[in-house]
Amino acid sequence: MITGVFRDASRPLAERVADLLSRMTREEKIGQLGQVRMSDYEKNRSAYLDGVRAGKWGSRILAETAWAGDGGASALKVEQLNEIQRVAVEESRLGIPILYGRDVIYGHRTVFPIPHSYAASFNPDLVQRALSAVAAEASSEGVHWTFSPMLDLVRDPRWGRVIESPGEDPYLSSRMAVAAVRGFQGEQFGGDKSLLACAKHFAGYGGAEGGRDYDTTEWTDNTLHNMILPPFRAAAKAGVASMMAGFNDLGGTPVSSSRALMRDWLKGELDWNGFIVSDWGSIFDLIGHGVAGDERAATLRAFTAGIDMEMIAGFYERNIGALIDSGEMPATWLDDAVSRILLAKFRAGLFEHPCTDPSRAATTLRHPDHVALAVELATQSMVLLKNKNNSLPLAPTLKKFAVLGPYAEARREHLGSWCLDGRPNEVTSILDGLRTAAPEKEFITANAAFSDACVDVARQAECVILCVGESHLRNGENKSIAELALPPGQEQLIAALGGLGLSLIVVDCSGRYLPSPAAEAHASAILHAGCLGTEAGTAIARVLLGHAYPSGKLPMTIPRSTGQIPLYYNRKTVGKTVTFVDRYRGYEEQLLTPLYRFGYGLGYTTFTLANQQLSAATMSADGAVTLRATLTNTGARAGAEVVQFYICDPVASTSRPGRELKGFQRVELAPGASRVVTFKITAAELEFYGARFHWEVEPGEFRLGLGFDSAAPLPLTLTVMAS
Ligand code: BGC
Repeated sequence: MITGVFRDASRPLAERVADLLSRMTREEKIGQLGQVRMSDYEKNRSAYLDGVRAGKWGSRILAETAWAGDGGASALKVEQLNEIQRVAVEESRLGIPILYGRDVIYGHRTVFPIPHSYAASFNPDLVQRALSAVAAEASSEGVHWTFSPMLDLVRDPRWGRVIESPGEDPYLSSRMAVAAVRGFQGEQFGGDKSLLACAKHFAGYGGAEGGRDYDTTEWTDNTLHNMILPPFRAAAKAGVASMMAGFNDLGGTPVSSSRALMRDWLKGELDWNGFIVSDWGSIFDLIGHGVAGDERAATLRAFTAGIDMEMIAGFYERNIGALIDSGEMPATWLDDAVSRILLAKFRAGLFEHPCTDPSRAATTLRHPDHVALAVELATQSMVLLKNKNNSLPLAPTLKKFAVLGPYAEARREHLGSWCLDGRPNEVTSILDGLRTAAPEKEFITANAAFSDACVDVARQAECVILCVGESHLRNGENKSIAELALPPGQEQLIAALGGLGLSLIVVDCSGRYLPSPAAEAHASAILHAGCLGTEAGTAIARVLLGHAYPSGKLPMTIPRSTGQIPLYYNRKTVGKTVTFVDRYRGYEEQLLTPLYRFGYGLGYTTFTLANQQLSAATMSADGAVTLRATLTNTGARAGAEVVQFYICDPVASTSRPGRELKGFQRVELAPGASRVVTFKITAAELEFYGARFHWEVEPGEFRLGLGFDSAAPLPLTLTVMAS
């Protein structure tokens, strides 16, 4: 095995990278850019290991998209990973370890809520701790790198992949991006309990037209910079090790061929030093998009654009050498790409601990601390949408409940559609959660397949807990819906049970936020639970019984109907809403307002916010002021409120959203208690990407306010002076 500076862990990473690079042949360099499939080993072990010996592939993907939702059938084999790694480090010329990547999106054996649910917690600290537990578990089974967080801003809930997204707001998404990067990677790289993170899908994939997966996107430059790119910029600043280029065409340039976005913006303007991996075959897809005639041309476009590593297709392996020889591609780009990948491997500490101790998993997977964290995050991720006459928490006087619907006893479905390692038998169902939490009460159920049996059982109870929602097979990648509605039959079931005159509690476990006219009409309470992971039933029982309170807030607007899409809170102001005032309607047969707005969510108590004030009414563009107010829990129960800070820039060089979230704080208070909340306002909160095509604060008046959802009034005015 070759020794040298690159093996010396005490040397700066840049020196180690340069030293290793200087020893590599061109073939070895090109090898680092390739990622092969897990199944290639199973098909032909000896040919695969020969390739590893020759240094042919820098990375191996331990996931297949088709496995998403398969419920653990694709479990990892640490011995097999170690065998391959030993060949790489002991038998290849330079001993460069292989980087193992897997989709560990929001859980491993302990499964946490899906990102679309955990975003509702508005609690980035808790999300960070949860994802660090996920990293500890996945790394104990040999994973080095996760393809998470997904940071696609979404405005169309028909798109099945909304379940992976932190929602419609760039600020909330940016906070979740930083939490995820720190959670997965740790505050420092290199711990063997962490994972390298990958921000995806760069960029704009969430705008798939019609909500159809993989479809064309058409974000304008203004929207791209103000809405789509900020979470990626936040991830880059937080030091995310990698990003993934998306599948989508963006206004005529498929993003996997966009030099402007990757080589120029990410690597140039942001000076980010991570590496970019293609999405699954997204370089191959450049042929399908019609911007490359063959694999050589696709390679040239993708590599020129700045994709450093290719996932699965083998185009780089077969074409980069020839493209450099022909002078179409500078050899310096190859060195740059390889250096970025090597840097990630050094950061991950792979040269120091390439293999995984097979005994680690036993003491790490489903560690009680992880399970407790999962209960907490699941609890905080639920959003209470409706609570007529304080139907929740369930009154202590009630003794007999009918727990019904497709989710009453479901397990696998709570794990969501992008889960490879969660085990259905380790999921607590809602029925089990309730029975364990309240053994003194009676919970009866019925076979959900027979609605008449459900009605019959409901009649025997004092209260109905109806557990509805989409299964994990109805959302996720390549699974969109044309109509925003619960799966067939569920609306009728809600209506049938609602007609009995009992208190009806609807618990919706859909991975996205769907309107339900029947629940609006008949339910006493609607609790959106989402996909909460292994501890779903425990967390839902806590909230229903009042052992914990709900505090989640919607990370995405719920429209009244499919026809309202796209409907999001940070819409631009519309000229005619001012000129027409009352005459502006939007639709003839539908209200313009959403069913539930962004940032909305009830608790079990009430809060007030008093004395909102600024420390000064003016500031210079590079100055700072403080916004403060007093939050009081005015109810009789403990609770948590998310104080949200919104701004509006009413006159600017380009049109601006009617309001934008620029800060939030989740505050827990005992009954009667008060707390002063403060928000610091600097250029970061006021700047935007305007007519001069860069981020700046434009002097003038801003309107500001604090509140409990995106309809918060903006009573304060701040004047920003030119500096
Ligand atoms: C998805 C990615 C995922 C990759 C690898 C693709 O189809 O778009 O999000 O990370 O597969 O599994």
